[in-house]
Amino acid sequence: MRKVGIIGVGEYLPQKVLSNHDLEKLVDTTDEWITTRTGIKERRIASDTEATSDLAIKAAREALAHAKLNPQDLDLIIVATVTGDMPFPSTASIVQNTLLAEKAAAFDISAACAGFVYALSIAEQFIARGTYKNALIIGAEKLSAVTDWQDRNTCVLLGDGAGACVLSEVKSGGILSVYLGCDGSNMELLNMPAGGSRKPASHETVDSRMHYLKMKGNELFKTAIRRMTMAAERALEQAGLNFKDVDLIVPHQANSRIILAVAKKLGIPEDKIYLNIEKYGNMSSASTVTALVEAVKEGRIKKGDIILLDAFGAGLVWGASIIKW
Ligand code: ACO
Repeated sequence: MRKVGIIGVGEYLPQKVLSNHDLEKLVDTTDEWITTRTGIKERRIASDTEATSDLAIKAAREALAHAKLNPQDLDLIIVATVTGDMPFPSTASIVQNTLLAEKAAAFDISAACAGFVYALSIAEQFIARGTYKNALIIGAEKLSAVTDWQDRNTCVLLGDGAGACVLSEVKSGGILSVYLGCDGSNMELLNMPAGGSRKPASHETVDSRMHYLKMKGNELFKTAIRRMTMAAERALEQAGLNFKDVDLIVPHQANSRIILAVAKKLGIPEDKIYLNIEKYGNMSSASTVTALVEAVKEGRIKKGDIILLDAFGAGLVWGASIIKW
């Protein structure tokens, strides 16, 4: 089997910044509540003319440039998203067409906040087996399109953005392990009830606000900590490493209190945690990858470092990966 690594990274965050103070004017909340309960200070909101594929394409172009590859070099494009441009065709098809990536197969995956780690594991296997040479994986979301701006329980948490990575064969290091999991029995804790085949759009679904993300955050909180801790332990075990080997944990950014609790349980000190939740909030599949991209850009990740990706989200799903940079 070939070794597979990340050879290029890119991101795109929409220009519009929505601060906690802006949200104080929309719902009954305060900057103090949002900051202390979540760690979020502001988030980005895509414009009316920007769809998820527009964010994805910008992140993809930056990742391709960083990898010094052309779109025509790509064999595979995977977009992880729960807010695709439309139910079908896939957002990956739109990205493939716009990039003119003529050779690339393309599809979307739905694994919410763990979507990037799921996409990473799929792409890795195609390259490790020699089926494909170069893969582009993107986590992209326009969560503002499914946000209920009257619901203070959710609207203060979410944001829009995209991150992308190019995967290819590497001589040393690369992805050492990936661990994925799912527990569908708790799916009602986080979902968007209508718009699919169970409840197609109707006047009733619109009137009862069923086309928005619904979350029982409090009930998810402890599960998120437990599952992310377990996923990280499994991924470390599979890689034959332990928590002391980790140079940087790059987690899904849903809540800084969740992240700090996971790191504490794992025995990883706070200076080895990468956080950017303050600037962007929770961008579902775009969060982990955007954090990874920014950690690279800021020089927090050096060649040879052991990186732990760790994510949890709607499904419920979780995933962790160990990468030697
Ligand atoms: N401003 C002010 N008060 C608020 C707000 C707000 N924006 N939102 C809720 N409150 C109130 C509640 O109504 C409640 O009031 P009450 O006690 O009078 O009923 C009080 O604050 C406490 O609410 P909790 O829900 O208990 O607050 P908690 O400390 O649990 O924080 C949060 C809520 C931030 C949602 C947290 O539970 C969390 O982060 N949960 C996990 C989220 C997660 O990991 N999701 C999965 C990944 S995300 C994805 O897949 C898209």
